[in-house]
Amino acid sequence: MRGKEMVKGKFITFEGCEGSGKSTQLRLLSEYLDKHNIPYVLTREPGGSAIAEKIREIILDGKNTEMCDGCEALLYAAARMQHLKDTVAPALESGKLVVCDRYVDSSLAYQGEARGLGMEYVGAINALALEKYRPDLTVFLDIPPDKAFRRKHGADKNDRMEMQGMEFHMRVYGGYKKLLAKYPRICAVECNGTKFQTHENIIALLKDKGII
Ligand code: TYD
Repeated sequence: MRGKEMVKGKFITFEGCEGSGKSTQLRLLSEYLDKHNIPYVLTREPGGSAIAEKIREIILDGKNTEMCDGCEALLYAAARMQHLKDTVAPALESGKLVVCDRYVDSSLAYQGEARGLGMEYVGAINALALEKYRPDLTVFLDIPPDKAFRRKHGADKNDRMEMQGMEFHMRVYGGYKKLLAKYPRICAVECNGTKFQTHENIIALLKDKGII
């Protein structure tokens, strides 16, 4: 854990599978923070600073089909290191609350678990990138991807979703569940109700943990 004496602001991250409603919840949280005059920086990974956004383009470019899994993991970590230096660290040092859309747990779940590189291997790569910047709290939007896709597209199965794709996303979800069991800083928020109920649950959690 990072030394509290060295970092003034609080650092929270949001995690979840595709379709978990992360973007909506981050928007509702921003509105809440604005309304309550709480200074914060909202940022995202991969990206969140000029160079990190360029690395994001390389990672997510559909034409880069031959990229190997190790390269992918290293690029996410490289983007993270630059993002920390440019955006996260200055905001934390000036005492702001930093809210980050995805962070190291995405690498552990997607590259470590779903790609099969192993969480230990991906954790080791990221240990070099993270330095002292560990989240105070990670909010995991807990909805399995098959359910999230049904909710998003109605009861009918989404035709564009290939079987292989869903298997991958279910492995990601399994990875998150392992992380949830291992790290007390990760808190699951159930997403069974409306987006407003989920938002209220998130605010209650942030208050309970002394973040806001
Ligand atoms: P994005 O469009 O931001 O997706 P989302 O809205 O679901 O957050 O794309 C980010 C993608 O990168 C997403 O599929 C998750 C993946 N990812 C990793 O595989 N590893 C990582 O370390 C991070 C930060 C993201």
